This record gives sequence, structure tokens and C-alpha cells, in this order.
Amino acid sequence: MERIGAHSHIRGLGLDNLLEPRANAQGMVGQGKARRAAGVIMKMVQEGRIAGRAVLIAGPASTGKTAIAMGMAKTLGSDVPFVMLTASEVFSLEMSKTESLTQAFRRSIGVRIKEETELIEGEVVEIQVDRSVTGATKTGRLTLKTTDMETVYDLGSKMIDQLQKEKVLAGDVVSIDKASGRISKLGRSFGRAKDYDAMGADTRFVACPDGELQTRKEVVHTVSLHEIDVINSRTQGFLALFAGDTGEIKPELRDQINTKVAEWREEGKAEIVPGVLFIDEVHMLDIECFSFLNRALEGDLAPLVVMASNRGVTRIRGTKYQSPHGIPADLLDRMLIISTKKYSQEEMREIVRIRCEEEDVKMEPECLDLMGVMAQETSLRYSLNLIAPSQLLAQRRKAPVVSSQDVRAAYQYYIDVQRSTAYAKETAALMFGEEEVVPAVAQAGSGVNGAINGNAMDTSA
Ligand SMILES: Nc1ncnc2c1ncn2[C@@H]1O[C@H](COP(=O)(O)OP(=O)(O)OP(=O)(O)O)[C@@H](O)[C@H]1O
Ligand SMILES: [Mg+2]
Repeated sequence: MERIGAHSHIRGLGLDNLLEPRANAQGMVGQGKARRAAGVIMKMVQEGRIAGRAVLIAGPASTGKTAIAMGMAKTLGSDVPFVMLTASEVFSLEMSKTESLTQAFRRSIGVRIKEETELIEGEVVEIQVDRSVTGATKTGRLTLKTTDMETVYDLGSKMIDQLQKEKVLAGDVVSIDKASGRISKLGRSFGRAKDYDAMGADTRFVACPDGELQTRKEVVHTVSLHEIDVINSRTQGFLALFAGDTGEIKPELRDQINTKVAEWREEGKAEIVPGVLFIDEVHMLDIECFSFLNRALEGDLAPLVVMASNRGVTRIRGTKYQSPHGIPADLLDRMLIISTKKYSQEEMREIVRIRCEEEDVKMEPECLDLMGVMAQETSLRYSLNLIAPSQLLAQRRKAPVVSSQDVRAAYQYYIDVQRSTAYAKETAALMFGEEEVVPAVAQAGSGVNGAINGNAMDTSA
């Protein structure tokens, strides 16, 4: 069975060329204003005009904050880094909080390295190999031509071996990398097409190159600063990149690498590609992380940092103070804030429909209507979660299409937060609980109905 992620239906932000949100495109429905706002920021990132900024996507639960971030990731080019982090990942025993944030920052900065390689490209006229009397050493000559010139190259035994391995014959067009000596066969020259009649079906014919035999070619590859750090840290070795346990990296090493990269930039060998770092559930960061972010965003090598939170006014972790979204006011002041709104019933119906398509579930239209109403009354997530069980129930009664009766049955089997809250209240005397938590649970019920879940849901205390 294929695994389908919660956001696998999202293929972009669904904007047109003028960055206007389409009603329903690339798996995205509604939330037009926020999508457009995200699109404008992405445009600036792509043009390299924005870095070291912070954006906050704030709104009630299941209003598409993470979905919009996924859409942003999809719109970036393949070599612009997009790093996703959930705030709680920062708290680990192996690494300090600031180290893991620093690593995340450096993973989101790409370095586009340009390398020029010299190539010799031409049509083989003749290969001549001379063996010494004992046969131990081989020397030879290779004659290559373009339409404009012809040159003879001396060959050493290594090159001769390669030519033989690649089965290079007169009439082949070859390309030789001068630095590594690697030979690649580009095909057979058109000029020699008539000389041979026994040719494999896969033979490729190419034109004999023109101009100089020696050409330069630029190869570009993008790596992240973090990858350069890891490769250069002697204690880690590049295999740590695959294992993922990179440990802490010394600040001196980072300084060295920054200097090196700056040198490359000046020499025109490298370009910095500031990417995007997405920190989900950002209210889980604590005051130390926030003050680190404040400072780190001002560095030369800072990415665009996008954060998301569904909290209202809540306590900042690690302090006694409250602040909107649990983010200190000074950091909040530096951010561009995008807000997401609760979906209408039609939009929720459409999202359910898209998810059904994604999960390969056929659902009757009136059942989708019911799902829309249910999403409005419970929550979008709850309705999305009922798709799979409803399908299973439909299969049990051998129905090819999920209908309202299956959804109703699933609704009975699995209760939503409101009903669960009511049940918890009813049985308060029978279940274990802590006095303090009781009011919090009571308020959580209204939370799914759209209100930003205030600090009542903050259990980080
Ligand atoms: N505009 C949209 N178009 C299509 N699918 C959407 C849209 N908004 C949300 N969804 C889908 O609805 C589900 C819930 O949305 P999402 O996870 O993005 O909510 P969230 O705002 O991040 O909520 P939370 O605050 O709980 O993290 C996801 O499966 C998501 O892909
Ligand atoms: Mg989310």
C-alpha cells in the first residue's frame, strides 16, 4: 500500500503568473490572501532579493499553515534549499539548542559552485598504438579533428587502456576531460555513416564538432553551507551526512568556511543561494532560541525564516511573560505576518474532495456535502481523518463508492474533540486527572471550532 502524507496533494501555491491565487489549483483551495502573500515572498526569494527576514504564518488550527509552507517549498527551484524543522526538534540531548538552529540555518543556505573544465572534443581520425618489445609499456598517438582543424596527441598507457575499454574507433566523436582524463563517446560522426553497414540499432550519429578542439565547459552544482561544514570537519567525515548524526561543529571551522566561501564569491567561483528555513509550531521554541534567532537573522548568511503557529496570546517558553503566538515582541516586530482564516463549508468540501482523490477513495457527491458540513461543525482534520475508515466501512458492505451511511457510521465509531471533551467532563469523577488541567481541556473543545487555541492548550509549562 502506498503511503500518502497529509500534504501530498499540494503541488504548489496555485498562483497564476501575476501571483493571483487561482480558486483551485495545484491542490490548493481558498486562503487566497495568505497564498498570494506567500507567493510574493517566494518570488523575492527566487530573485535573491530577500534573505535574513522572518515571516510568520499565524492562524487557527487546520487552516493550511503547514500546507502553505509545503506549497512554498514546491515553488522554489530545485537548487534553492528549503529546510523544514519542527520547533521541538531543537531540543535534543546530543546538541545544544543554538547548535541545532545554526545547523538548520546553514542547511538553508546554498552555495552554487561553478567549475570550469577543459574538454577536448573532436572526431577520431586515427588511433595508433606502439607496443614495446616486451609488451609491458604502450605508447601511442591519437589524431582528432574538428571541421576546422586536426591535431595529434601523444597517448600514455592509461589513456590507451581507456580508449580500448570504451571501444573507441576511428569515426567516433569523443570528449576528453583534460583534468581527469576521462573519455566519453558522444556518438559516431555523420561523415562516417556510410563507411559501415553493420551498425547496432542504438548507434547515435552526431555532427563532427567545429571550431577549436579544446573547449571550456562550465559545470554548476549547489551544496549547502552545512554540507561543506560536515565534509570539512575532520571528526565527522562526509559519511555523517548520510547517517544524519553530525554532532556539534566547531565555530572556528565555520568561520574558516565562511572566509573560504567569501573568497570563492570574490573570484566568481561561487554564488550564495539563500533558501528558506521553515519552523513549524514555533511557539515551542523558548526564549533562548528566540534571542538567538533575533541575532542570527542579522547575519550576512541568513536564509528567509518562515514560522508557523496556531497559538493566540500565550506564555513565552522559559519566561513568565505572555505574548502573541508565544513569540517575544521584539522578534514579532521584525516579522512579516501572514494570517490564515477559517475555511468556508464549500472550501472544506473541496479540500475533502481533493484528499479523496489523493487517497483513491470514491465518494458520492451528497456524501461530500455531508463531509463539508461535518468539517464546519467539528474540524477539517477530523473530517479528513474519517475518509479512510469510511472507505473501509464501504468496502465491508461491498459498495464501490463511499456514501453518507459509511461516514455516519465512522462518525459514531470515532469521536471528535467536542464529544471527547463532553465525555471527559461526564466521567470526570471516574477518570484520573489533575485539578489544574480540567479548565484547559474544557476550553480545548472550542479551540477546534476555529478560535486560536489560546494559552489554555499550552501544555509546555
Ligand atoms: N488551502 C488548502 N488547500 C488544500 N488543502 C489544504 C488547504 N489547507 C489545508 N489543507 C489540508 O488540510 C489539512 C490540515 O491543514 P494544515 O496541516 O496545513 O493545517 P495547519 O494550519 O498547519 O494546522 P495546525 O495549526 O494544527 O498545525 C492538511 O492535510 C492540509 O494539506
Ligand atoms: Mg501545521
